[in-house]
Amino acid sequence: MLLDPFSIAPLGSLKNRVAMSSMTRGFAGPNHLATPEMAAYYGRRAEDDVALILTEGTIVHLTGDGYNNVPHIETAVQAKSWAPVVQRVRSAGTLLFCQLWHCGRISHSDYTGGVPPVSSTDRPAEGINRQNGKPFGTPRALDPNEMTTIHRQFVDAAQNALSVGFDGVELHFGHGYLIDEFLDGSVNDRTDRYGGSVANRCRFALELLETVIGSVGADKVMVRLSPSREMEGIHDWPDMGAMLDYLVPAMSGLGLAMLDISCARSDYALTSGRVIRMVRPHWKGFLMGGASLSQEQAESEIRDGHLDMVTWGRFLLANPDFVGRLRAGAPLEEFSRDMLETLR
Ligand SMILES: Cc1cc2nc3c(=O)[nH]c(=O)nc-3n(C[C@H](O)[C@H](O)[C@H](O)COP(=O)(O)O)c2cc1C
Repeated sequence: MLLDPFSIAPLGSLKNRVAMSSMTRGFAGPNHLATPEMAAYYGRRAEDDVALILTEGTIVHLTGDGYNNVPHIETAVQAKSWAPVVQRVRSAGTLLFCQLWHCGRISHSDYTGGVPPVSSTDRPAEGINRQNGKPFGTPRALDPNEMTTIHRQFVDAAQNALSVGFDGVELHFGHGYLIDEFLDGSVNDRTDRYGGSVANRCRFALELLETVIGSVGADKVMVRLSPSREMEGIHDWPDMGAMLDYLVPAMSGLGLAMLDISCARSDYALTSGRVIRMVRPHWKGFLMGGASLSQEQAESEIRDGHLDMVTWGRFLLANPDFVGRLRAGAPLEEFSRDMLETLR
């Protein structure tokens, strides 16, 4: 079942149910361009028959960057640098989505062109940013009249991605970055209409989603959420149940048809697997998730109707021939940190 072709709206025909989840690699070229090495890296996974690939997080606007050497898709030149990646992946019959990313306060003015990072709050994230060895920058809480500026950045990035042939975009609403900083009641300390109640905390995400769907169409848009994830231990959104009860139907009401539930390198059963069981009864659309699941676990999540496709990150990083190995019943290479040093 996992490895059999299938068809699902709005994606259409897929080679199988294996998806590569978004993984930041930090190998973009000067000016944040995608490179030929990146085309070869994604191409190898596509040629090995991964059915759907999500690119690494790709920054929508310089002021939303927070990492070393990550790709951007703010300008036409940056978008065009992705064309060889798209070409290589799509010619293998694999679908390719660009993950659109705004880091919010998980950043520093070293990365944003010198301006303070923006967030829902003016409290900095705790800890040291491993990217530059400095404490995270003190963010500036977005003013309500600036929200449309951020919407525009996502719309422009989505249009750029689609203009070079991506099959769709994934809006990164998870992992403690900008949109999650509004959703997560432990971060969002606002007292205006973007903070406080469940509906207010969801407002920024929903307005953004409505604008992007209005611009590029719902059949091109996936959302990644991480209501329960690793963050020095397992962290759930405060009032997670009430949040999901409100947010999921509201996103569906805006026409959203594709959802990716993630847990940022945590234990699936304790985090996203739990969330998926809360979401699924209320969600009619396409749903994917996963985190280092075994083939048997993946098959059973699909068979029991929890997931339509299963995402893998680190196993796909460690095994460019992941699908081939699953087909052959061959053992998988374990991920190790030294593998991050090259684009194998
Ligand atoms: C090196 C690395 C980089 C990652 N970068 C991103 C990213 O850019 N965007 C994102 O949504 N998740 C990112 N993740 C999380 C993965 O997409 C995935 O959800 C997580 O690794 C759990 O899946 P796994 O256990 O199969 O690796 C990253 C994970 C790794 C290991």
